Amino acid sequence: MSAEPLEIHLEEQDLGRSLRDDVRTGLTADAKWLPPKWFYDARGSELFEEITRLAEYYPTRAERAVLAERAGTIAELTGAKTLIELGSGSSEKTRLLLDAFTRRGGLGTFVPLDVSVSALRQSTAEIAADYPGLRVRGIVGDFTHQLDRLPTGGRRLVVFLGGTIGNLLPAERSAFLAAMRDALEAGDWLLIGTDLVKDPAVVVPAYDDAAGVTAEFNRNVLRVINRELDADFDPAAFTHVARWDAEREWVEMRLRAQRPMRVRVGALDLTVTFAEGEELRTEVSAKFRREGIAGELAAAGFAAHHFWTDPDALFGVTLARAE
Ligand code: SAH
Ligand code: AVI
Repeated sequence: MSAEPLEIHLEEQDLGRSLRDDVRTGLTADAKWLPPKWFYDARGSELFEEITRLAEYYPTRAERAVLAERAGTIAELTGAKTLIELGSGSSEKTRLLLDAFTRRGGLGTFVPLDVSVSALRQSTAEIAADYPGLRVRGIVGDFTHQLDRLPTGGRRLVVFLGGTIGNLLPAERSAFLAAMRDALEAGDWLLIGTDLVKDPAVVVPAYDDAAGVTAEFNRNVLRVINRELDADFDPAAFTHVARWDAEREWVEMRLRAQRPMRVRVGALDLTVTFAEGEELRTEVSAKFRREGIAGELAAAGFAAHHFWTDPDALFGVTLARAE
């Protein structure tokens, strides 16, 4: 079976409106911020893939180790007919699950959902070619808004890998989990990857690599705004900052203005000023503890059945069931 054209749940004009709203809200706030989903144009998705190969960036390797060991169990326990992946990106690690389901039999459909059209177009084509018995149905969509439109019918397993749930703020996270539960039937499964709390001396370099790939990824959001909203940010005039917040147990990525700047955002008819040293928060990446994950899942109506880590306990993968 081949990949069908992508299903578009997020038209260009919705994306554009959402970007305009976010940029106006974030850049006019007292403490400036932007949501991390705007990193991921084609270049941003490529830079993220490059990050996953860096020596300092342990989460991808650690999560892959868990999946390599547990994929067969996950396929057996869930017996899913439909596998839905949120924030799927390249779906590279998901192949471990697809391989296990292929060995077991019974999986009919794979539905990757991502806001990045370029990542989705490439991953659906490659997976459809490599798994000829599988129906691959890519959805361009936003997992913070469109979970009510996931495919129904047959036992479902939703996977949310990479620790991307940690890029949501706490209130967004609980709203996301509640919407996820509403979108599922009792007995459906959720597999969720979370980076774990650990020594900041390990975490921070993962977000501030020596080669500067993460810095380029961070600055990419300014390039997206320049292109999409006719803005005139000078990305080179912003320094990449990665900082551990011990109280909240998350890493923040910020962009620090190296000099005073006035930035024009043409499409919003907006001028934004930056003082020298002023910081724009572009991402939080929360780190989790086992009890915290189980508690957040329970509050949303999921029971955590299994919690697995890699041998170094860097990264956790929880298999939960909708109650
Ligand atoms: N799951 C992959 C990719 C993680 S990168 C992995 O584990 O390696 C995060 C992915 O989530 C990107 O592909 C990005 O485009 C997507 N993403 C971020 N915010 C999103 C949102 N609100 N809705 C849908 N996709 C989103
Ligand atoms: C996608 N997400 C889980 C990554 C993370 O680690 O928070 C995004 C990222 N940001 C910087 N490096 C990688």
